[in-house]
Amino acid sequence: MKALVLYASRDGQTHAIASYIGSCLKEGADCEVMDLQDAGQIDLSSYSKVMIGASIRYGHFAPVLNKFIKQHIVELNAMPSAFFSVNLTARKPEKRTPQTNAYTRKFLLATPWKPTLCNVFAGALRYPRYGWLDRVMIQLIMRITGGETDTSKEVEYTDWQQVKQFAADFGKLAVKK
Ligand SMILES: Cc1cc2nc3c(=O)[nH]c(=O)nc-3n(C[C@H](O)[C@H](O)[C@H](O)COP(=O)(O)O)c2cc1C
Repeated sequence: MKALVLYASRDGQTHAIASYIGSCLKEGADCEVMDLQDAGQIDLSSYSKVMIGASIRYGHFAPVLNKFIKQHIVELNAMPSAFFSVNLTARKPEKRTPQTNAYTRKFLLATPWKPTLCNVFAGALRYPRYGWLDRVMIQLIMRITGGETDTSKEVEYTDWQQVKQFAADFGKLAVKK
C-alpha cells in the first residue's frame, strides 16, 4: 500500500514541502501527494500511512485541517501518521519544534488526532506576491519580530535538510497491524 501526503497551502510553500517529501518517499515506496481540499471523501484504509502539512495565516491553520481530522479521526489514530506545520515564526530555530512553536503546540493540545510524528518547518516570505494589505500587515509583524522588512524581497527560510530528515523518519514508520 502506498503512503499519502496531504497539504493545506495558500501561497504554495506547504505544497512545495509536501511535493518534496513525496519525491523523497517515492525513492523507497509508492506515495501520493494531494491537496487537503480535494481529500474530504478519501478512503484512508487504502493507504499504509498518512502525513498532513498545513500553514499558518494570521495565527490560524486553514479550517479544512480540523474539518478533515474530524471526518477521519478513527482511521487517523489507527494508522501511522505525521503532521507538520509551516509558518514564519519558525524562521527562528528556537521556535522550530512542536513544543516551542506556539501554533503547533496549541494545535496538538486541542486536536483529538495523535500523530506518530510531528515537525515544524519555516515557510517563505514573498512580499511581491501579496496584496497590499497582507504586505503591510506582514511587514508590521516582521518589524515587531526583527525580520525582513524590505517589501521587494522574497525569502525562503525552509530548511530542506530538516524536511528530508522528516521524510526519512516517516518512511521508516512501521505499518500498524
Ligand atoms: C497573510 C499572511 C499571514 C500570515 N500569518 C502568519 C502568522 O500569523 N504567523 C506566522 O508565523 N506566519 C504567518 N505567515 C507566514 C506563512 O505561514 C508563510 O508565508 C508560509 O510559508 C505560508 O505557507 P503557504 O505558502 O503554504 O501558504 C503569514 C503569511 C501571510 C501571507
